[in-house]
Amino acid sequence: MAARKRASSDTTTQQKSQETSSSSSISPDSPIAPSKAAQILKFSSLFFFVPYSYLVFYHYEIENQLRRSILINAVLSFAGFFVTLRLIPVASAYVLRRNLFGYDINKKGTPQGTIKVPESLGIVIGIVFMVVAILFQYFNFTSDSIWLVEYNAALASICFMTLLGFVDDVLDVPWRVKLVLPSFAALPLLMAYAGHTTIIIPKPLIPYVGLEVLDLGWIYKLYMGLLAVFCTNSINIHAGLNGLEVGQTVVIASAILIHNVMQIGASTDPEYKQAHAFSIYLVQPLLATSLALLSYNWYPSSVFVGDTYTYFAGMTMAVVGILGHFSETLLIFFIPQVLNFLLSLPQLSGYVKCPRHRLPRFDPQTGLLTGTDDGTLVNLFLRKFGRMSEKSLCILLLVFQAIGCCFCFVLRWFLAGWYK
Ligand code: UD1
Ligand code: MG
Repeated sequence: MAARKRASSDTTTQQKSQETSSSSSISPDSPIAPSKAAQILKFSSLFFFVPYSYLVFYHYEIENQLRRSILINAVLSFAGFFVTLRLIPVASAYVLRRNLFGYDINKKGTPQGTIKVPESLGIVIGIVFMVVAILFQYFNFTSDSIWLVEYNAALASICFMTLLGFVDDVLDVPWRVKLVLPSFAALPLLMAYAGHTTIIIPKPLIPYVGLEVLDLGWIYKLYMGLLAVFCTNSINIHAGLNGLEVGQTVVIASAILIHNVMQIGASTDPEYKQAHAFSIYLVQPLLATSLALLSYNWYPSSVFVGDTYTYFAGMTMAVVGILGHFSETLLIFFIPQVLNFLLSLPQLSGYVKCPRHRLPRFDPQTGLLTGTDDGTLVNLFLRKFGRMSEKSLCILLLVFQAIGCCFCFVLRWFLAGWYK
């Protein structure tokens, strides 16, 4: 959990009166700095929404029924964006009142480093996401909606994960417990999953394996559970810079959507298209609500997202990768997270000492960050590219994430027909 303080039961009367006066001094309308929604919308429209709309409505021939569902989902998600934008300042006042805040570690030694930044705002995103995803079923309901079983199991897992993330933020559970929480949250999906448990053997390996399709049975479910554990934790530990937790999710979610549309456009198999449409129905609301959160979390952050958000976002992406049957592609979109995980292994396994925060060193005189010896991608980038500001480092890491996604598309294009 954060460097935040929870109110202890032995709080003195004096402290209590100070707290009351500080919470009453917070304006109920705007306890935090205004959002950067205009810039975020402009940037995301230019780099994502325009090309994405072009692919959905013009480039690919997609059936009208499917296009209609994608559009309805997009409209609901867009509404979710504005609701989230409106709710974050309200929720910030409430979490601050309950002493759920963190100090911005990369601003320690400056006046900004003494501000109580509201924590766990991921809870707002989780709630709005759930409402959008549940309402969408009403608009997309058909008499043969078998997909609803898996859709609702997916929502149960995401909801369970959000709850456990919030529990972690409030109770500050130990690191080893944190690691296994997603395996509980994945249970609703694993138990309800009735899809296939087979994998298609890559063409170059068929002569060695002697099979074209291999049924993994329960091992496939184990793999699904491990993927959920990886996606959630890997987002949570690639963190600690303003905008990084949400920024990486926004980049990966955008790549997933483009991938889904490309697959729908290129396929004639209704089941395959349905699997990718399913992913779109969950990722569009994820992207929209995350963009609203980024509007407040971008440098300098006026709110922190908490483990509530990192777990929620990781689980949503794991679920769509599993049910959309593109987990290999998803793992390539996660290249920076995989690298960060590998760099973290010595500290996560306890082989090397792991401090509570593995963040760079901040110099209040220059405002620049210097890499430490802690095994993270953030520190590696600082060691390789030299000292830089928090904002520049975050942008650099997000560009790296985007390059990884582009690499995945190029790889898929080269391997098409040869690999599978
Ligand atoms: C994970 C990382 C930890 C990192 C932390 C930062 C591992 C094993 N754990 O821990 O090294 O320091 O995330 O999120 O790799 N914070 C900032 N600026 C930000 C975001 C967060 O200063 O832009 C600080 C704030 O004090 C905030 C706290 O980090 O309250 C949140 O930490 P938390 O998410 O609880 O840490 P973990 O997920 O346990
Ligand atoms: Mg965290």
